[in-house]
Amino acid sequence: MNNLENETDHRIKEISTSKVNNEKFTLNIQISKLKRNTHVLSKNYDIKKYLDSAKFSFNPELDELIPKDTPPYLDNGEKYVERIGRALSFFKQCALIGPSGTGKTHIVYLVAELAGLPLWEINCGLQTSVFDLFGRYVGLGKENWIDGLITSWCRYGGILYLDEANMMKQDIATRLNPILDQRGHMVLTEKDNEIIQRHKDAFLIISMNPVSSEFAGTKPINAAMRRRMSVWLNFDYMSVGAKIDEKEIDLVERKAGISRQDAEKIIKIGAELRKQYKSGELPYGPSVGDLLNWAKIVADGVSVLIAAEETIIALTSDEGEIQQIVRKLVQKIAGTQ
Ligand SMILES: Nc1ncnc2c1ncn2[C@@H]1O[C@H](COP(=O)(O)OP(=O)(O)O)[C@@H](O)[C@H]1O
Ligand SMILES: [Mg+2]
Repeated sequence: MNNLENETDHRIKEISTSKVNNEKFTLNIQISKLKRNTHVLSKNYDIKKYLDSAKFSFNPELDELIPKDTPPYLDNGEKYVERIGRALSFFKQCALIGPSGTGKTHIVYLVAELAGLPLWEINCGLQTSVFDLFGRYVGLGKENWIDGLITSWCRYGGILYLDEANMMKQDIATRLNPILDQRGHMVLTEKDNEIIQRHKDAFLIISMNPVSSEFAGTKPINAAMRRRMSVWLNFDYMSVGAKIDEKEIDLVERKAGISRQDAEKIIKIGAELRKQYKSGELPYGPSVGDLLNWAKIVADGVSVLIAAEETIIALTSDEGEIQQIVRKLVQKIAGTQ
């Protein structure tokens, strides 16, 4: 998929709280709405073979959870979209492994849009409570129960996306395990042990950073969850270290409207920062979207070096010492030492 004409960085998230009511259920959820340019994508991907939106039927109230206008996912023929589609269709769930900024969340939105699946997203690194995820009574007495996010997914179906799944707190992981079986169910102990069968079209995608000796700050995913994942897909940056992807240079050159030479510098620096992030030397590795932001400042008539100050250097860390490492690297590769 080489469609570089399309947007890649327009995933502007707008969090809104939405209340959905009908006689059967009450949903009170946070929805990440995606505002994007409209593209007709489906012809670029062969996902229908595995996940056919015409064969799913969800409560129309969930329509607003189906992502819209997701930009294309750029890859080198790895067919990630189709492989995720296949994993979900065969096994109902899969795991995405890759450093932050490699497009894991992006591709989940894309798959959900192409397959017409409502998306329930949870970032496990955030301090989300068991109540938010499983549900609770509100007000006095036992009249007003509100399903949590995981409960809603289990009941009504769609894709549950657990971002940074290895950061999940143990109390949540323990409750999640019985649901992870393809024909799993959940027991709402807080609601008179109500048993909810996993909806037939309830899919699960987990994502995480690779756990390796040199990768700082990650911990392995718990064994129960590992055992239940049949497919593991590895993601990496388009360019990293000495491996430079011409398509990423093209993209930055064209989308930002800067010279080829400047685009090359930005991608080379980005690739080196990513390498150092992957080896634990830096706290952050830039995504293609981050590099594009840097290039956009350059396009306004600022030098690569000056533009780096308010973008890539500040983005990588708040610490002066780390910023200095990045600055030196920018100077070295941008050739103005
Ligand atoms: N292969 C890719 N094709 C298109 N956009 C990408 C790709 N990889 C990353 N991006 C962009 O980079 C940014 C970070 O991606 P994201 O999905 O948040 O990464 P992750 O979830 O792996 O941390 C987003 O703006 C995303 O659109
Ligand atoms: Mg993500």
